[in-house]
Amino acid sequence: KVLILDFGSQFTQLIARRVRELNIYSEIHPYNSKKFNVSDYKAVILSGSPHSVRGEEAPNPDLSEIKGKIPLLGVCYGAQYLAHNYGGEVGASNTREYGRAHLTHLDTSETLFAGINEGSQVWMSHSDTILSLPSNYKMIASTEDVTNAAYKIEGEDTFAIQFHPEVYHSTDGAQLLENFLVKIAGLNQEWTPDSFVETTVAALKEKVGNDKVVLGLSGGVDSTVAAVLLNKAIGENLYCIFVNNGLLRKDEFESVLKQYEGMGLNVKGVDAADRFLKELAGESDPEGKRKIIGRVFIEVFDDESHLLEDVKFLAQGTIYPDVIESVSATGGPSATIKSHHNVGGLPDFMKLKVVEPLRMIFKDEVRRVGKSMGIDAELLGRHPFPGPGLGIRILGDITAEKVRMLQEVDAIFINGLKKWGLYNDVWQAGAMLLPVNSVGVMGDERTYEKCVALRAVESVDGMTADWVDLPYKFLQETSNKIINNVKGVNRVVYDISSKPPATIEWE
Ligand code: XMP
Repeated sequence: KVLILDFGSQFTQLIARRVRELNIYSEIHPYNSKKFNVSDYKAVILSGSPHSVRGEEAPNPDLSEIKGKIPLLGVCYGAQYLAHNYGGEVGASNTREYGRAHLTHLDTSETLFAGINEGSQVWMSHSDTILSLPSNYKMIASTEDVTNAAYKIEGEDTFAIQFHPEVYHSTDGAQLLENFLVKIAGLNQEWTPDSFVETTVAALKEKVGNDKVVLGLSGGVDSTVAAVLLNKAIGENLYCIFVNNGLLRKDEFESVLKQYEGMGLNVKGVDAADRFLKELAGESDPEGKRKIIGRVFIEVFDDESHLLEDVKFLAQGTIYPDVIESVSATGGPSATIKSHHNVGGLPDFMKLKVVEPLRMIFKDEVRRVGKSMGIDAELLGRHPFPGPGLGIRILGDITAEKVRMLQEVDAIFINGLKKWGLYNDVWQAGAMLLPVNSVGVMGDERTYEKCVALRAVESVDGMTADWVDLPYKFLQETSNKIINNVKGVNRVVYDISSKPPATIEWE
């Protein structure tokens, strides 16, 4: 496996993903972490960093067990660090070094550049530059503006590049990483979804043995894939609980439950809709609503898990981005229980031992693993849906009537996206019920009814997002259907705000 030492670059996770796309397993660790053993790795990659090697706060890793001993690739800050600390000179650059550049003076005899040609486009993002190299270092590529765009250290399997091979704009970035990892470091490309399933199932059997495990299913991709993996490993000893909080999409509780049963999972559906609605009555503050939904979920889940005897483990669908420690973090890994669930005293089920079969993989890998286990493509391609559900899409206080209205509107919108073949072009979509009444006319009568906002965004991770340019014809058809079919709604608007500065949800 491959060790990626993180110096805090925004691109570090991308390095891990690119390596895994080559079917090679990689792990990210903070450069100053003590929680890994260098001897477990066959290659090391040093990431970029927002710091300057000349700054006082500059990350200062001890590479004595790595450099010259294990194949090493320095990227950006990593490249500058390897030059600066071994006798080279790094200084502020005086030309533009952000964005597109092209490789020149390429030493094509280097294995690192196998299959890569002079002129190949690379992506730069740095303000310091390597002015001179130590004497046993050899420049192997430049760009228009950067002399030392790539170098090697003579007599070692140590290479360094100023550009970022992990971003897609570096056209041959994947080829370069493959050259380094496979041709130079000799790693095998064996880490596939099938092999992940095989090793994970074996590890789960080993860890859990004959004990019972309880898992909360949400209908989402992560908890479903985690459940199917556990089901493969321990079968009937996996007890899944699927709670209807009354804020799910129209008919979702019944249809998802049916789908789970069809997959052979041992699932108990708990319809707690009334309990949630009762507790939510009169609350209109968004964070207040989230807290109530989180608390009631815990109460319901705790009640249900008490009905099971001798449960030893709690399974969670935690994925790698929730686990990776960031360089600036002082404490341990980020909490694995989402904060909106973590209110009040610790309920009994949270005292169970935790199993997290997906904690080392990214979202797109979760989908690939799900696919390799035969999970329905439609289920795997579902849009993300917030835990508090329609509760944060009904602005202001929540009533059963408002939930019904929004479920109808949402179903018309989502089914329309599917019918028009637009669903998979959208990262997330939904409707918001606004706390505004506006005037309309229906027949001879004036109406004074609700307004709904439709939202569809494209995004990669939900951190930034832009609205989707849906066809006017589609919006027209959807608006007509909503106003003609959903009693109480007389106006439809489409949200054209990007995130930032807006957010995806309205609350
Ligand atoms: P925002 O509105 O912050 O949403 O742009 C980003 C992503 O997070 C989801 N979201 C939530 N998910 N509990 C959740 O589990 C929440 O309280 C919550 N609030 C927002 C949102 O749907 C989007 O995918």
